[in-house]
Amino acid sequence: MTIRDTQTFRPNERGLIEAADTLRGGGLVAFPTETVYGLGADAQNDTAIANIYAAKGRPQFNPLIAHFADISQAKRHVKWSNIANQLAETLWPGPLTLVLERHSRSNLSRLLSAGLSSVAIRIPSHPIAKQLLANLGGPIAAPSANISGQISPTCPEHVHADLFGRIDGILDGGSCQVGLESTIIDLTGLPTLLRPGGIPVDIIEEMLSTKLAIVQNSDAIKAPGQLASHYAPRADLRLNAKTKGTNEIMLGFGPVECDLNLSATSNLVEAAGNLFSSLHILDGDNATTIAVSPIPETGLGMAINDRLRRAAAPRPANEQ
Ligand code: TXA
Ligand code: MG
Repeated sequence: MTIRDTQTFRPNERGLIEAADTLRGGGLVAFPTETVYGLGADAQNDTAIANIYAAKGRPQFNPLIAHFADISQAKRHVKWSNIANQLAETLWPGPLTLVLERHSRSNLSRLLSAGLSSVAIRIPSHPIAKQLLANLGGPIAAPSANISGQISPTCPEHVHADLFGRIDGILDGGSCQVGLESTIIDLTGLPTLLRPGGIPVDIIEEMLSTKLAIVQNSDAIKAPGQLASHYAPRADLRLNAKTKGTNEIMLGFGPVECDLNLSATSNLVEAAGNLFSSLHILDGDNATTIAVSPIPETGLGMAINDRLRRAAAPRPANEQ
């Protein structure tokens, strides 16, 4: 692993130009999106993308999302469809990723899609991400800017803690508003939910007037990244906890007694925004177990529970 001199880029005109220049030169720059911080590289540069996998310690079979400035740029790389158009016209820019078959004319790196015939594409709405894409003038490959398997970063300090010395720069854009990754829909066959996320599934189902198919964790080809253990803090998690046990620290939801509350008013949007930062904070407290209040499985609650279940799942031996 090469040691890199990690610079901080300010979110001003100069910082954004320097960050784009670094990407153009094959470097790795973490940048804010409305969901979480992404670890960006030029999506057409194989070496830069190989460096993303190395910096994150990410398994090579787990493909990356290509981020675009606008729909017309994104469309050129995939086999576009009516359903894609319907979702994109309403929900882009925003926390939605679409998986579509790659178009033969696409020059996106093959490493980005890890050998699959499909590619995942997204148009972020965060103004800094948009300006960075505009300055680069091409797509940016970006997974979440954390060490593989760990908690996703929602502020520059989280990125710094995981990746300082491993990447070339961090574009400082403060905290991410949504706080959970994008919802991923596979449109290569029947519309299928690969990952619940920042856009509630019911909104998408209502737009399409159909239920989304759900991919099984075991379907490694369709959802290569949906590892059972993910977003994992060092501490163990005890889910659906009504009260705090001895030697536990409690992450609450709603009007409960706890050490930190995702949303005292039971607001799921607020809770989503606070989830990863709360796990980061409580994990710094040296507790062995974090007890977490029950979260309703509605709206963004589905994505919050998905992340909590993965964070609570047994860890592979090398991630203990
Ligand atoms: O909100 C987000 O989506 C953030 C920001 C930075 O955009 N990105 C993000 O990337 O969460 P990452 O790499 O942490 O998660 C992307 C997921 C992975 O689980 C990966 O397996 C899946 O997308 N993915 C990428 N390409 C795919 C493809 N062709 N088919 C199926 N899944 C794919
Ligand atoms: Mg991730």
